[in-house]
Amino acid sequence: MSGGMLPQDDIDEVLVSAWRLLARGTADRREGFHTMSAATIGLDGRPRNRTVVLRGVDSLTRTLRFHCDRRTDKCAELSADSRIALLGYDPHAGVQLRVEGTTMLHIDDAVAEEAWSGSPPSNRANYGSVPPPGEIIRTGGDYALMATGEEGGRGEFCAILVRIESLEFLHLAREGHRRARFRWEGARVEATWLVP
Ligand SMILES: Cc1cc2nc3c(=O)[nH]c(=O)nc-3n(C[C@H](O)[C@H](O)[C@H](O)COP(=O)(O)O)c2cc1C
Repeated sequence: MSGGMLPQDDIDEVLVSAWRLLARGTADRREGFHTMSAATIGLDGRPRNRTVVLRGVDSLTRTLRFHCDRRTDKCAELSADSRIALLGYDPHAGVQLRVEGTTMLHIDDAVAEEAWSGSPPSNRANYGSVPPPGEIIRTGGDYALMATGEEGGRGEFCAILVRIESLEFLHLAREGHRRARFRWEGARVEATWLVP
């Protein structure tokens, strides 16, 4: 019944490798976890999903960070219900990560300021479009990005911190698939193997 021991069979090591894959995603746009799919609960109760760029990972505080325009639907949805699910798949590592947690939206505090000042000017242009994201326009190009100045878009910039409550790791490999779940209660982590 049971497969042999794999390097992946140390569950603590699995968690370390999950954090490592996430950290790499923030550092290198070619990495599998540079982007993740972020699912929220729509204001009408429907699931809603979109791609976001992973901007920060902190394994000590169990937080992930991504950025957006505060006028986007995702911000309204997370303001109404802070729960989020993030999903990524790294085809080279053969690893899927599923994250569940709750979010904090940072717009005009020190967290937002630090995230903003750490963003290259080319990224800053993504925030502060006129009209706002999601507005109906007559033709596809009928919008402008905010001024090219350093602070263009700062007023609309939002850093979202995800406090991770659970993380699920799935590794598909010829030698044997492995699935592990980590759940945090306070500082305590409950690590469990699951049938893939
Ligand atoms: C590769 C890629 C990366 C993206 N990164 C972000 C991001 O970091 N933040 C963001 O708000 N939108 C990002 N988007 C756009 C979103 O997927 C989405 O279309 C937009 O934010 C509107 O989402 P909403 O109306 O659900 O809020 C990205 C899209 C792609 C294709």
